[in-house]
Amino acid sequence: AAISARVAEIVTAHQGMEGPLLPILHEVQAAFGHVPQAALPQIAEALCMTRAEVHGVMTFYHDFRAAPAGKHVLKLCRAEACQSMGADRVAAHAQASLGVDWHETTPDGRVTLEPVFCLGLCACAPAAMVDGRVVGRVDEARVDALIAEVR
Ligand code: FES
Repeated sequence: AAISARVAEIVTAHQGMEGPLLPILHEVQAAFGHVPQAALPQIAEALCMTRAEVHGVMTFYHDFRAAPAGKHVLKLCRAEACQSMGADRVAAHAQASLGVDWHETTPDGRVTLEPVFCLGLCACAPAAMVDGRVVGRVDEARVDALIAEVR
């Protein structure tokens, strides 16, 4: 009930706006730390969309998470400049070390791994972000060090 009341407020505040869905999703995520499943039908109904459409938008943009994040968030850049500098290898290594896939959190709730699409640090690719701090030239050893920091 607390969720639906807050979501209703957010939806009402944006209704009549052009393209209200993204701002609504952003605000819901800011309020709850993620976009709760329970909010989707409510948002869909208010905007005359289907729940699948809302879900589709949510997953298309990588900013939204469907479950609460862990204590720390490690983001790895997946965009082109970083890809060309070995981001895939680094990502595979991070996934193996943490034992999680994208958007997942380690079972102890410590670390969430998320993809991000360009951190503006292309000159120092591959780039990563740990709890909002950007880090460049991330190779396997560096990603291990970052993981050790937050574990
Ligand atoms: Fe990775 Fe720009 S492509 S920081």
